Amino acid sequence: MNLLITGGAGYIGSVLVEDLIKKGYFCVVIDSLETGHKRAVDPKAIFFHGDYGDISLLKKIFLEFKIDAVIHLAAYTLVSESTVDPGRYLKNNLAKGIMLLDEMVKAGIKKIVFSSSASVYGEPKRIPIDEEDPLVPTSPYGLSKKLFEEILEWYKKIYGLKYVSFRYFNASGASAKYGEDHHPETHLIPNIIERAYKIKKGIRDIEPFHIYGNDYNTHDGTCIRDYIHVKDISKAHILALKNLSKLKYKIFNLGNGSGYSVMEVFKTTERITGVNIPFVIDKRRPGDPAILVASANRVKKELGWKTDIPDLSDIINSAWKWKLNHPNGYNVL
Ligand code: UFG
Repeated sequence: MNLLITGGAGYIGSVLVEDLIKKGYFCVVIDSLETGHKRAVDPKAIFFHGDYGDISLLKKIFLEFKIDAVIHLAAYTLVSESTVDPGRYLKNNLAKGIMLLDEMVKAGIKKIVFSSSASVYGEPKRIPIDEEDPLVPTSPYGLSKKLFEEILEWYKKIYGLKYVSFRYFNASGASAKYGEDHHPETHLIPNIIERAYKIKKGIRDIEPFHIYGNDYNTHDGTCIRDYIHVKDISKAHILALKNLSKLKYKIFNLGNGSGYSVMEVFKTTERITGVNIPFVIDKRRPGDPAILVASANRVKKELGWKTDIPDLSDIINSAWKWKLNHPNGYNVL
């Protein structure tokens, strides 16, 4: 099967493309490299540095490589950033996504797997969150994902598009080769790990780790998230590709079903790295819901998916190993 992966040089894309290639899929990657890295793309994939809303590039790729299905990962993904620059998020995540869908329709490509997000739910009414629960996003980022899911449904009705939308909870961890390298880094686990690494290397003059809010309605006052290994996310995409034509449901949560607070993740990372890390309590970050934990029953039942790396310590350990082996991320200094 010939695949186009948008955003294939990003964190999740890099691990997914590596796994797809191991399974024998032919992979073409488009990535703007705004947040992705050329070095994060498996050398066996065909790489195009470009924009997934670039119609002429899409036409060329669809024609030249006889693409059978698209995995659409490319997006701006920061909840907090989207609350100060909504237009940037909505234009990128929606307008370009529509260009992609239209070019797929013109080229007769009927299959797409889309990266949605737990942020479509906003402040959930109950935990764990079920796919049928209300969608009330608390950020323009979450809104962009919710609207794109609705657009997919219309393309299904009108053009017969077959799609799966995965609502990722908190992607984390790394494969041996590919991991998380954002500039600036805003995510929890790599931010704690970065400090642990510096302290281990004898650098004492570091900015303490900031915990964004300890006054949430949770057991220790810090936000609770469902951390899911990036390899397990990748595995779900491969199952979706295999079963796309015969699925009853189109929308699936991808999470472990267990929640950990920011403080618990912090303490676990201290234990794994063997480092005491200075921290401060900061104010809440805009757009952050208190608790996001998935019910993953639907994806387990319908796709036969199960996590291989469910344990938080193993997830953090894989990210720590990646840091030790790639201290500068994808920048080779
Ligand atoms: N946090 C801190 N300090 C930091 C970084 C994060 O306290 O330095 C806290 C955040 O406030 C939040 C939690 O750690 O409570 C997790 O934050 P992340 O930035 O790691 O992840 P988010 O939950 O904000 O968002 C991630 C993805 C989104 C996706 C969401 C789904 O970035 O794209 O998970 O749950 F929508």
